[in-house]
Amino acid sequence: MKTVILHHSLLYQGPLILVNRMHALRSSDLNGLTPFDPDHPEILLERQAGRLLSACLTKIQSGRSIVPVSGWRSRAEQQRLWEDTMRENGETFTRQYVALPGCSEHETGFAIDLGKASPNLDFIRPNFPYDGLCQTFRKTALRYGFVERYPKEKESVTGISHEPWHFRYVGAPHAQLMRENGLCLEEYTEFVKQRMHRCPLGNGRAARVFYLPCTGEHTACQLPDGCCQISGNNVDGFVVTVWEADA
Ligand code: DAL
Ligand code: ZN
Repeated sequence: MKTVILHHSLLYQGPLILVNRMHALRSSDLNGLTPFDPDHPEILLERQAGRLLSACLTKIQSGRSIVPVSGWRSRAEQQRLWEDTMRENGETFTRQYVALPGCSEHETGFAIDLGKASPNLDFIRPNFPYDGLCQTFRKTALRYGFVERYPKEKESVTGISHEPWHFRYVGAPHAQLMRENGLCLEEYTEFVKQRMHRCPLGNGRAARVFYLPCTGEHTACQLPDGCCQISGNNVDGFVVTVWEADA
């Protein structure tokens, strides 16, 4: 066992931060943004998310059939998108499909909009159907740590209308636990607080997931030796992931 001291600022960083209209993005300390698709060097993602998205697209041999439409956006870009959409599509549509500036997952570098390649892909609502290669991506992406973030049945929880094209990187054990338990990220943030959870990863490894409340400027955390990851939840604490052999 080792003890690590977590500074309060870490609450607002990491792949499990919940960013929505109730919880604005607080940190701009991104872990290096990187292009992940040589055909679209202008589209950036957080380094690890980009690496895994690229690996997933290679795995399903997507070729050029799935195209990235929008990745990281600066706060200014999100503001511009909000204002342009307000002007062109009105307030109801904008609130349904564009997050408030400062409250968009796209500002974290962990979100990506994908479209099925076609000549006239819509920037705000690209087509990403529930069949063919797009659906293969949706299923495979869980193992790479990506979830469909705004499902139809969670509209009242997320506050965003159904977005089949918007994927969020949270990390493989979390994506799988969310899927198995039918939870969106708002719900998962509460779920991990209830007790420790274990997720077999199917490769002889498993992950243990537990929650640690933030106790002030510094929070002490007991970690087992081995591979661990700590992410803030952007609300009130930290999610600790410990990888271990699957007994
Ligand atoms: N379309 C999503 C909700 C965003 O603007 O972040
Ligand atoms: Zn999106």
